[in-house]
Amino acid sequence: MKTVIVYDSAFGNTKAIADTLVSRLGSKATAVPVDRFDARQIRAGDLLVIGSPINGWRPTPKITKALVELAARGLSGVRAAAFDTRVKLFIHGDAAKKITRTLKAAGASIVTGPMAFYVKGSEGPLLGGETERAASWAGDLIASLKDRGSPGTV
Ligand SMILES: Cc1cc2nc3c(=O)[nH]c(=O)nc-3n(C[C@H](O)[C@H](O)[C@H](O)COP(=O)(O)O)c2cc1C
Repeated sequence: MKTVIVYDSAFGNTKAIADTLVSRLGSKATAVPVDRFDARQIRAGDLLVIGSPINGWRPTPKITKALVELAARGLSGVRAAAFDTRVKLFIHGDAAKKITRTLKAAGASIVTGPMAFYVKGSEGPLLGGETERAASWAGDLIASLKDRGSPGTV
């Protein structure tokens, strides 16, 4: 059983959140850029976390493609969660909720709700406090695994 955090990132902000999650989740967790992700890496019992910037109100095309491949294989027995990075706008769209819905429809068990992290402008950096919020969200992921009687990844 392992934890895989798959992310897309043009300017490094989503990667920074993924790296923070890995640093909290421990040695069995890895962050994998979506370009290097192969859906066959994911097995029942794994925790799969997907992170995407919002691009044009939705996940990036590369994350959407990875989701199509994951859904084709099915995610029964896989635990999953999703986050996005976004700009603080009145209308910003969404990626994490859409990803979460897709993961669930593919059979994954959603361990915690979608999470948003905020960047300054398109290129960032992350707004103050977002790294700490990511560390806190990692704690939610760990707690949800323990709640389900998992042997744990940390
Ligand atoms: C082409 C493009 C479209 C974007 N569309 C949105 C959007 O619809 N809503 C939003 O909140 N942010 C939008 N953004 C801002 C991105 O969310 C931001 O660039 C991203 O979170 C940065 O993450 P990264 O450094 O990992 O690429 C857009 C950025 C780009 C470059």
